[in-house]
Amino acid sequence: MILLDGKKTANDIKNEIAIKVASLVAGGGKKPHLAAILVGSDGASETYVNAKVKACNKVGFDSTLVRFNADVSEEELLAEVKKINNNSDIDGLIVQLPLPAHIDEMKVTETINPIKDVDGFHPANIGRMALNLPTYLPATPAGILELLERYKIETSGKHCVVIGRSHIVGSPMSILMARNNNPGNCTVTLTHSRTQNLKEITKTADILIVALGKAEFVTTDMVKDGVCIIDVGITRVKSDKTKSGWKLLGDVAFDEVSKKSSFITPVPGGVGPMTIAMLLKNTLVATAKLLY
Ligand code: GUN
Repeated sequence: MILLDGKKTANDIKNEIAIKVASLVAGGGKKPHLAAILVGSDGASETYVNAKVKACNKVGFDSTLVRFNADVSEEELLAEVKKINNNSDIDGLIVQLPLPAHIDEMKVTETINPIKDVDGFHPANIGRMALNLPTYLPATPAGILELLERYKIETSGKHCVVIGRSHIVGSPMSILMARNNNPGNCTVTLTHSRTQNLKEITKTADILIVALGKAEFVTTDMVKDGVCIIDVGITRVKSDKTKSGWKLLGDVAFDEVSKKSSFITPVPGGVGPMTIAMLLKNTLVATAKLLY
């Protein structure tokens, strides 16, 4: 079994980006600038956004964090998005999800200028992705592709099973793995909460991508020998074995499933760090105006 080390790979990518930024700036270019909007004080969102800002600083980007209270009106939030759309110093904009229930997430996403949509969530960019046109790929799926590529995992002709159909991970992942690209060219099965006989399907997976958000959902009886496992889940559970009293679990029962796997991502240190690295990569592309 080979561990897909997302922490190391993400660090390699960040170092590559830092070198590109230094040469951009040395050549008289501007520093990439990412703006992030955070609404409310959800613990996980706060952690993710802080990590994104810290990563920007590490590679030499400028960053702006705009915070709103959870009771901000949709109108006020949309006005801020439009203001950033029109700010020529800012190259990329992300609005951390989820948003409070009174705000229409899709309306906010559609208001972001697709040119600055470094999360790749705008319908125009999702459409470009589906058509295999140059675009910003959503960061978590892009991070998974990057791991498959850097570890030289053969995907062509393989059966890829995806568990979970979220707009952020499962749905785009299923499209990307089916595209005529490398990585890609898989036969893809997208499974979800209404899927029947899930175990019969997952047992035929050569590559199993799990993104449903249920700790240790995938067990050893659900996979075949030699499977490649990509675990996107991250759930915080109480533990009396750690100093902090908490531990992070993936969607896959790592100890038992890893024994049957050819490749597997750990949690933490697998897909998570890759997401941030790919967001930085998208922001660099936005700055260099490589897409539009
Ligand atoms: N919430 C969970 N993942 C993401 C992400 O990649 N981007 C944004 N904006 N919100 C998220």
